[in-house]
Amino acid sequence: MRKSPSRDRILVTGGAGFIGGHLARALVASGEEVTVLDDLRVPPMIPPEGTGKFVEKPVLALSERDLADVRLVYHLASHKSVPRSFKQPLEYLDNVDSGRHLLALCADAGVPRVVVGSTCEVYGEADELPTPESSPLSPRSPYAASKVGLEMLAGAHQRAPGGPEVGVVRFFNVYGPGERPDALIPRLCANLLTREEIPVEGDGEQRRDFTYIADVVDKLIALAGRPLPPVVNLGSGRSFSVNDVVHVLRKSFPDAEVVRKASRPNEIAEFRASTALQNRQIGPRPGAVDLEEGIRLTLAWWGARDLDDIRQRIFQEEGAD
Ligand SMILES: NC(=O)c1ccc[n+]([C@@H]2O[C@H](COP(=O)([O-])OP(=O)(O)OC[C@H]3O[C@@H](n4cnc5c(N)ncnc54)[C@H](O)[C@@H]3O)[C@@H](O)[C@H]2O)c1
Repeated sequence: MRKSPSRDRILVTGGAGFIGGHLARALVASGEEVTVLDDLRVPPMIPPEGTGKFVEKPVLALSERDLADVRLVYHLASHKSVPRSFKQPLEYLDNVDSGRHLLALCADAGVPRVVVGSTCEVYGEADELPTPESSPLSPRSPYAASKVGLEMLAGAHQRAPGGPEVGVVRFFNVYGPGERPDALIPRLCANLLTREEIPVEGDGEQRRDFTYIADVVDKLIALAGRPLPPVVNLGSGRSFSVNDVVHVLRKSFPDAEVVRKASRPNEIAEFRASTALQNRQIGPRPGAVDLEEGIRLTLAWWGARDLDDIRQRIFQEEGAD
């Protein structure tokens, strides 16, 4: 009789992307058996080397066999641009459909635990700051709506008896090396290095809860080592304005010109996480990287890249938006 495989593997969907790539590398470094699944629908900033076994296919093509030896899934594969989701909303249905497929498959294959990646965008313009997990869901973009759909599916699996333990994590603004310049901090770094300008949308007073990637990876690993709460914020609990970020960047580039751009439609004034539940689950995390140091590390990473490659990346992002 053939022995059933032991469940010793961690699957990271979207593992060629920013958060998934860093997470997979950290897991491999700590001795875990890791499979990364990604169909490379967006070109990776860092090749998925050192992230374990790489499987190039969409989540919808995952089969029960792929999960036979998996004990934990981090589901991070997603379309994630707010502006693009207004232009190509149908693409964002894939966030829901892929989540539906993955969760059903995990239930059928007996995968014990699934961590599902969501976003603070589900809160929209929250009445309460810092925002606790119990705040109403009020999505303001097709992207945020797709994540509400994904969270509802996760909730259905949480309530179904005998299924996997499913926990939703709501990321706030994660930043650091390897993020594409469709997000704020890498966009500013890339523009500074190639054009010596800092594009700021609106008055720059919109505030975000920034967390450095290494701290997010630490929290993701710590969370999955304990019983999963149904939903938890992964943020720092502090917010900084875009103008604060510009101020830090100008310490390195004092002559850079700030170029004002139109505000985004439906721009949210502030995101700030309540970290009470996160702290209860995993305790305070010593050694968190502060914004100034995190921006310095991110800028240094961009500064070590080829300028033509950076221009090409910005062009891709601007062409897509
Ligand atoms: N980066 C942030 O600040 C942030 C904030 C809130 C939420 N999130 C969420 O965290 C997760 C990871 O974000 P990220 O910043 O690493 O994004 P990313 O775009 O860098 O990575 C996502 C990866 O998923 C892959 N992918 C997308 N759909 C897929 C599918 N159906 N099948 C296979 N591969 C697929 C892409 O090719 C990409 O490599 C996402 O769920 C995102 O919505 C991120």
